[in-house]
Amino acid sequence: MLEELIKEFKEIFKYDGEVETFFSPGRVNLIGEHTDYNGGFVFPCALDFGTYAVVKKREDNTFRMYSKNFKNLGTIEFNLDNLVYNKKDNWANYPKGVVKTFLDKAYKIDSGFDVLFYGNIPNGAGLSSSASIEVLTAVILKDLFKLDVDMVEMVKMCQVAENKFIGVNSGIMDQFAVGMGKKDHAILLDCNTLKFEYVPVKLKNMSIVIANTNKKRGLADSKYNERRSSCEEAVKILNDNGVNIKYLGELTVAEFDKVKHFITDEEQLKRATHAVSENERAKVAVEFLKKDDIAEFGKLMNQSHISLRDDYEVTGIELDSLIEAAWEEEGTVGSRMTGAGFGGCTVSIVENEHVENFIKNVEKKYKEKTGLRATFYIANIGDGAGKI
Ligand code: GLA
Repeated sequence: MLEELIKEFKEIFKYDGEVETFFSPGRVNLIGEHTDYNGGFVFPCALDFGTYAVVKKREDNTFRMYSKNFKNLGTIEFNLDNLVYNKKDNWANYPKGVVKTFLDKAYKIDSGFDVLFYGNIPNGAGLSSSASIEVLTAVILKDLFKLDVDMVEMVKMCQVAENKFIGVNSGIMDQFAVGMGKKDHAILLDCNTLKFEYVPVKLKNMSIVIANTNKKRGLADSKYNERRSSCEEAVKILNDNGVNIKYLGELTVAEFDKVKHFITDEEQLKRATHAVSENERAKVAVEFLKKDDIAEFGKLMNQSHISLRDDYEVTGIELDSLIEAAWEEEGTVGSRMTGAGFGGCTVSIVENEHVENFIKNVEKKYKEKTGLRATFYIANIGDGAGKI
């Protein structure tokens, strides 16, 4: 495939010399959802599919970017003195935002580049296609301009690009998983301190199955920002009542139970309850995984979904239908929505001998309930972004 991409790059940019190639994965979060911006734990892993880039540095200030996924938009051009968000630049705002963030942090980027992107992550499906292209751009910049910057710093800058340039107030999980992923491991990340640990995912006779609702996400970004504000409000109320915390992730469920009566708004209380309980679930789940107790890990995945459905209210009919169908299947060890929610994907652990039936039956039931066709992927855990 890479050969194909290089050939296309040369045709599009009418160039016949040496090029550089890079890859950046997508990610799936196994447990710990909507906990990152609450200073809690997440447990994502990088996937073995993602975004590829073929690149050639230029001598002038121009960037020319082409995506095989958005052929109809053609080549998008901008230059170093003109790094502003522009709606009509569509997907290219992600790489543009990363270049801008690097410059703002005084990294020396003194020319543009030509790039062809191709991603095999479904866009907008909650598998971090945007973090993937952001971190990919960071890796390209580091390589082309010989920057002295480590991956964690690049991950942080990509989050800044997403927050400030794109305007989505996301946490650090996606960029971290995409940048720091490790084959066959998930990352237990404390989003407050950024301390992390690689935990081997040894599923033996089981697979990770991702199912895409194929639901268009609509107002997801504004609803995401709303959830985040709700949690921040809850922290303020607790602070006003003498509970000295910066994030909900600092409280255990037992500690929260003692102070939650201060939060009188029912909706806010539900949001905070999810943030606290999910954080604890993530920690406990990882302990079970370390002891090879996948069955208990799976049960906590199911509970995570229920909490996201009932307390955080970020699921909806599509995700819930996929999950209910998954729970009914023989061989399903655990199943939950993954990512921001409001559409996007589910992640399930399924015994290998039942995977085929799982896909067949879940697809059928989902179609009957929603009229939509789900797509399924068997996920392999891959490495983080880098040069290839
Ligand atoms: C999106 C965000 C992440 C995280 C998840 C929910 O993927 O980009 O930072 O908040 O939603 O866990």
